[in-house]
Amino acid sequence: MIVTTADLFRVAYGRFAIGAYNINNLEQTRGLFEGCIRSQAPFIIQISKGARKYAGVKLLEGVIRAAQEEYSEAVFAVHIDHGDEETCCDAIDSGFYSSVMIDASHEEFDENVAITRRVVERAHAKGLSVEAELGQLGGVEEDIVVDEANVNLTDANQAVEFVERTGCDSLAVAIGTSHGAYKFSGSQGIRFDRLAEIQANLPNFPLVMHGSSSVPEEEVSRINAAGGAIDPSAKGVDVNSFIKAVPLGVTKVNIDTDGRLVWTRVHREYFRDKPAEFDFRKPGTIFVDEYAKFIVHKNEKLGAAGQLAVVRQELGL
Ligand code: G3H
Ligand code: 13P
Ligand code: ZN
Repeated sequence: MIVTTADLFRVAYGRFAIGAYNINNLEQTRGLFEGCIRSQAPFIIQISKGARKYAGVKLLEGVIRAAQEEYSEAVFAVHIDHGDEETCCDAIDSGFYSSVMIDASHEEFDENVAITRRVVERAHAKGLSVEAELGQLGGVEEDIVVDEANVNLTDANQAVEFVERTGCDSLAVAIGTSHGAYKFSGSQGIRFDRLAEIQANLPNFPLVMHGSSSVPEEEVSRINAAGGAIDPSAKGVDVNSFIKAVPLGVTKVNIDTDGRLVWTRVHREYFRDKPAEFDFRKPGTIFVDEYAKFIVHKNEKLGAAGQLAVVRQELGL
């Protein structure tokens, strides 16, 4: 059942983090629902502008609607990831989504406030909640590339002013993570000190951690052993750090890259080992199962596994 993101946040805040997984196709969608049912976890499906373009908005939304019927036990929200104003407005007007993220973090502060405020007014009028972003993560997202020198951590005092002026419902914070497979160089990691400052200024306000893939070493080496060329120094977020971020207000954790690595490993290994095969449903079936296992693992690390009954009870479902 599709619920509001605000409802999920109300149940989760301070107790566990909700996995927000990017979906682009049928196989990922099946694996995500399978994994969340197996681990009895609530979740957020998120759709980027790139996913809407790739799969087609109607087809992608249709797959999610069908999955909702097929996996009737699932409790989840549907969210726009890194939306611009146009995409957010389109999604708000469609009536399908639980929430949108307006990402104007690359703009100057006042312009970020103005754009976010406009989206908040439109979204709230239709009962959707809004995630906004302040500060800038490193890495690649859509067509924007931010190198390490230009990473801009969220300022805890500015965060208060931003939330007050925009009326947004949750805040994506830049606390040292970055998008994509190449995250930390040297000893850089999650800045728990900065996260704690932000939460002290915004108590009980849901914070969102983007760029939270772990880029597991084993996954990278299996991909490379099967013909891939991913930089082996690629390093992500320690999965054991999610649970430490929960008491500091992190309620939603965004994971995309790790799922792409699962896809790449499964398909590279399959075609390496079976070079005469051409039925894509065979590796596709393996991928769905491997993706489901990956989702179970993440939900366990987020503390979301086993929370479905609590969510159902508290939301009166
Ligand atoms: O943060 C960006 C997400 O990983 C979505 O990536 O824009 O390539 O779909 P995408
Ligand atoms: P990763 O690239 O670390 O998976 O981050 C995904 C993300 O933040 C989506 O918004
Ligand atoms: Zn992101």
